[in-house]
Amino acid sequence: MNFLKEIENLKEVKNAIILAHYYQPGEIQEIADYVGDSYYLSKIAQQSPAQFIVFCGVEFMVESAKILSPDKRVFWGNTDSNCKMVDEFHDEELIELMELHQDAAVVSYVNSSTRIKTMSYTCCTSSSAVPTVKSIENKKIIFVPDKNLGSYVAEQCPEKEIILGKGKCYVHDNVKAEEVLKLIELNPGALVLTHPECQKEVRDISDYIGSTGNILNYAIKSDKESFIIVTEMGITHILGKKCPEKKFYFPKMICGGMKRTTIEDVYRCLNYEENEILLPEDVIEKAALALSNMIRLGEKR
Ligand code: 13P
Ligand code: SF4
Repeated sequence: MNFLKEIENLKEVKNAIILAHYYQPGEIQEIADYVGDSYYLSKIAQQSPAQFIVFCGVEFMVESAKILSPDKRVFWGNTDSNCKMVDEFHDEELIELMELHQDAAVVSYVNSSTRIKTMSYTCCTSSSAVPTVKSIENKKIIFVPDKNLGSYVAEQCPEKEIILGKGKCYVHDNVKAEEVLKLIELNPGALVLTHPECQKEVRDISDYIGSTGNILNYAIKSDKESFIIVTEMGITHILGKKCPEKKFYFPKMICGGMKRTTIEDVYRCLNYEENEILLPEDVIEKAALALSNMIRLGEKR
């Protein structure tokens, strides 16, 4: 069977769209109607008139799309696509922090479980974390789960007292400064563009820190010719297409959860309507508050 042709037909028949994160395999990015970082994709899911959405990404991204658009049908490309940061951060840790710091507002990185979102005042993405925290009245902020993104936010918001969770992303946290320094030595003149989920030692030797989408825009607009990209390597697909004349070097960074979706998975979602996200109404209602605040506060930037 020609899955690509079938997918095109089914999309038309069902008035469906396919969303893919930049970390998805190249062939999935190729068939997607929209490719982007987590902030962009959650906005597209909310704003698109399409009622049938196949989301190729990790669970929290797909659930966020459903929560923001409860009347749409949202399908998860591959249900084994997990985010380890989400899996490894448990409710109890947040509950303990909330008990210890009752005057703090809870800001949860969107890379968190739906249950964590129901306990949060607002969510944020890596691109909106700093302006979101700045816009909140409380001086004290509990920021979970990512300790690295949280420490970056604390550096950028010295007026706030940030209480950090202990979560981390194994893909970004594993990169060591020595590895990046070696790449700098091998590629003199290359600019270092880094995701804020990386450790402080890596951020401190970087020329630019930003979300996946912001790293991409920076590389496109820059008049420099070579870059060391310190984020998941799926972004090479779009970098190669947008700036074929530029050179990109990477530490080896691969998110296993993001690489599971296949073309056949997408076909199965569209044809057999497999992997639909269904959440209890009260959970949607509670988590929607934090996600709507994320979009509202993110728009104020
Ligand atoms: P972005 O907000 O840059 O899309 O990051 C999502 C993510 O999972 C990073 O590891
Ligand atoms: Fe989660 Fe890290 Fe993968 Fe992003 S790269 S989806 S934070 S495990």
